[in-house]
Amino acid sequence: MAILVTGGAGYIGSHTTVELLATGHEVIILDDFSNSSPKVLDRLKTITGKNIAFYEGSILNKPFLNKIFKENNIEAVIHFAAFKAVGESVKEPLKYYHNNIVGTISLLEVMAENKVKNIVFSSSATVYGVNNISPLTEDMPTSATNPYGYTKVMMEQILNDVAFADKEWSVTNLRYFNPIGAHESGLIGEAPNGVPNNIMPYITQVAVGKLQELSIFGDDYDTPDGTGVRDYIHVIDLAKGHVLALKDNLATTGSHVYNLGAGQGYSVLDLVKTFEKENNVTIPYTIKPRRAGDIATCYANSNKAKEVLGWTAQKTLADMVRDSWRWQSQNPNGYEE
Ligand code: UD1
Repeated sequence: MAILVTGGAGYIGSHTTVELLATGHEVIILDDFSNSSPKVLDRLKTITGKNIAFYEGSILNKPFLNKIFKENNIEAVIHFAAFKAVGESVKEPLKYYHNNIVGTISLLEVMAENKVKNIVFSSSATVYGVNNISPLTEDMPTSATNPYGYTKVMMEQILNDVAFADKEWSVTNLRYFNPIGAHESGLIGEAPNGVPNNIMPYITQVAVGKLQELSIFGDDYDTPDGTGVRDYIHVIDLAKGHVLALKDNLATTGSHVYNLGAGQGYSVLDLVKTFEKENNVTIPYTIKPRRAGDIATCYANSNKAKEVLGWTAQKTLADMVRDSWRWQSQNPNGYEE
């Protein structure tokens, strides 16, 4: 029995693939390389010593999806494949709704036709919107401020409705906080297209000399040092959370939702200073105005994942910044030559 990993060549998908293989699962990756590289597959083989079945294409292509289910004995899907840039989603909402929402519906329809009714979904703490107060718990109301965020809210709703209507389904929505870090080999990591939107790839690209300086978006928030506070989580801890969530998903039916965060907030300046100290590099920065849509503080209460799944984040902020830097310094241009 195999696990189909949609978006398995991406940042979180590739790290989750490593952990799935390490825990004895067979993995099939489906990816269209819209925000990833074929080189990831070679790197995964180097890390795991295993051949991984791979299909190149989109979840929007139902005949293609059907072929994958017919050719393999799939027991569950971990669904990462989606667009994720907030700013782009504001400019091109239909692109986001089409790929993320229609793609997820297409996947769920093909799963149902093939009687595969177990799915773990890559959601985000973005679904907590701007009005809930941290630490965030899974029972808080969800909302969004941009099309990307709405696709996550809607995809969670669609999955919950499917599980409500057909009691054979088991759906698990995993709400990620701020994944950073990389596999300790330095062979796989986060490689965004163009100028990074998220802070860690921006910092590592400044450190490697590709970008001149970091802009810190606001130092007048109601936080200890005035900069934004987030719950950074090592991508390997996150990947391990998927393996435990999958185990729980396969053993149950119905709808499940878990926060995957370290449960501790660090400010932008904490992150920059830890990066500088651990890696012995300097990150020039200037303070800029607040970024539209940002909130002061966002961190998880991850007690539910601990109690039900037996999951807690193990790695420290120092581990995260060292591993991010190892990846970027060994691969200054990501997966490009
Ligand atoms: C962002 C998205 C969120 C998405 C998540 C994962 C926004 C408003 N939120 O979360 O919806 O789920 O990424 O893709 O885009 N910062 C800087 N300088 C930078 C970049 C970021 O100071 O160049 C600061 C931000 O203001 C924030 C912190 O760093 O305080 C983290 O930012 P980021 O990595 O973009 O993550 P989020 O905004 O938490």
